[in-house]
Amino acid sequence: MLREVVKQSASLPSNSKILIFGGGFSGQHIANAARQLGAEVLCSRRDPTKKGADFAFDSASKTVISDKHFHGVTHLISCVPPAKNGEDPVLKKCGHIIKNMPLKWAGYLSTTGVYGDYKGGWVTEESDVHPSQNRSIRRLACEQKWEALGVPIQILRLPGIYGPGRSALEAVASQRNSMVYKPGQVFSRIHIDDIAGAIIHLINLFSKDICPRIINISDSLPATNIEVLSCAANLLDIPIPNIESFESASKNMSPMALSFWQENRKVSNHKLCNDLGYKLIHTDYRDGLKDCLMSNQSN
Ligand SMILES: NC(=O)c1ccc[n+]([C@@H]2O[C@H](COP(=O)([O-])OP(=O)(O)OC[C@H]3O[C@@H](n4cnc5c(N)ncnc54)[C@H](OP(=O)(O)O)[C@@H]3O)[C@@H](O)[C@H]2O)c1
Repeated sequence: MLREVVKQSASLPSNSKILIFGGGFSGQHIANAARQLGAEVLCSRRDPTKKGADFAFDSASKTVISDKHFHGVTHLISCVPPAKNGEDPVLKKCGHIIKNMPLKWAGYLSTTGVYGDYKGGWVTEESDVHPSQNRSIRRLACEQKWEALGVPIQILRLPGIYGPGRSALEAVASQRNSMVYKPGQVFSRIHIDDIAGAIIHLINLFSKDICPRIINISDSLPATNIEVLSCAANLLDIPIPNIESFESASKNMSPMALSFWQENRKVSNHKLCNDLGYKLIHTDYRDGLKDCLMSNQSN
């Protein structure tokens, strides 16, 4: 819950003004936490009438962002994924402005998909990147474009994002899905509280000249699909879904769903949690799903 993020985070540097491109699921949560920690925050959405939009930004539109939004910005976060043609939507439209801004910190939300398949082994920030999916190849290219911009940037690599309203609870409650079993297959994940909490921690470290280039933001327990969905069903007190073999289930999977099962890795958070001292709010899916349930019930 947001209050846990706020409770454990130090205030942000005074006069911080944070510009967030892409106020979707993660972006809005980061914005809400940062506001409560004393920063001024402006968040974009493509449709300015959508919840959480402070200004409109759509790389497909000709609308120009007003200078007043950039004025006084100290920190910038991009949560916008690469376009289908591989371009970074934010850099394409605003790169020429951003590179001349006197930023104290910028963060680019990327994915752990850039590591590619490690056949169930651990990946750290030092692991070789060999993306195999086209979207991960595009992502790595966007990481490199952000790094080449010349601003003080950190690349934040995220595994599957979940949180209230978007978690295994909704998946089991829909009762549409069986639980897919593929021997040895695990997934890493991260709760949005810890995306927000880790970013605030990293911003504060950066101001003390502790500034690693790439950080994985992941929880401590990669787990199987069956473990996570069973936990969700137990929390909801509904029957645990049937188990189906990957061979059988894969016949009806979309290409996107199938692509997630073609790679297998465990994402290490050692750098974030040990070297950089971040304390996870939800160390694993069990704690994170309980939080999602409580949040859903209180809304
Ligand atoms: N979901 C996951 O499990 C996962 C895992 C690893 C990494 N990631 C990456 O982490 C980042 C945040 O994830 P999320 O789940 O919070 O994403 P999200 O909810 O889908 O938010 C993405 C944001 O980007 C904006 N956006 C997309 N295309 C745009 C364009 N062409 N021009 C302007 N804005 C555009 C969206 O605008 P609207 O608000 O108008 O829709 C939205 O605000 C994304 O880059 C995502 O790809 C996601």
